[in-house]
Amino acid sequence: MNEPLSRLQRRRSLAPHRLGEPGPGAETLQTLLGVAARVPDHGRLVPWRFIVIEGGARQRIGAVIAAAFQADNPGADPEKVAFERDRLARAPVVVAVVSRAAPHVKIPEWEQILSAGAVCMNLLHAAHALGFGATWITEWYAFDRRVLDALGLEPRERIAGFVHIGTPLEEPVDRVRPDLATIVTRL
Ligand SMILES: Cc1cc2nc3c(=O)[nH]c(=O)nc-3n(C[C@H](O)[C@H](O)[C@H](O)COP(=O)(O)O)c2cc1C
Repeated sequence: MNEPLSRLQRRRSLAPHRLGEPGPGAETLQTLLGVAARVPDHGRLVPWRFIVIEGGARQRIGAVIAAAFQADNPGADPEKVAFERDRLARAPVVVAVVSRAAPHVKIPEWEQILSAGAVCMNLLHAAHALGFGATWITEWYAFDRRVLDALGLEPRERIAGFVHIGTPLEEPVDRVRPDLATIVTRL
């Protein structure tokens, strides 16, 4: 069996709390981001960017997430607030992939958004290739202006994903995959 292909066939996401230390160090993360940025990009617009959230920044942004949650849910159970505060602290490193898609004379915005999705997927594959576990999530705070402001997103920018990366704490169990017969049309 071809090893790279077999890796692709085995890749699975792991929930953030199943991603422990160590995460990728600075140099490794640089490599992962380089692979992530190596995606098809119509018009070479680079319609995406990265925000690396690690160390104390995870708690700092977590505090903003918890405050937004509490403001929207006054009287929320302290355990739920603590859960929200911990959102980005479960995995050692979280990379926010930011879509910068915008109207363009030639390149449809849709294609720019797809390119940001490809960045997230490449990052998952690169992390997996180095033996890390990773998962691509958004959750409510990816759409919350207060949190986006804390992350420094411009009004036009959007979170394509918070890619959590760490060392797998367990072997992932595969999930059911789509039956190709139901999604493939041959002409
Ligand atoms: C754009 C996008 C956003 C997602 N957001 C969430 C999320 O907020 N919460 C969640 O539990 N899963 C979310 N998922 C799904 C996870 O990535 C999920 O773990 C994954 O589909 C598992 O499949 P895999 O093992 O094939 O990677 C999202 C997926 C995508 C593509």
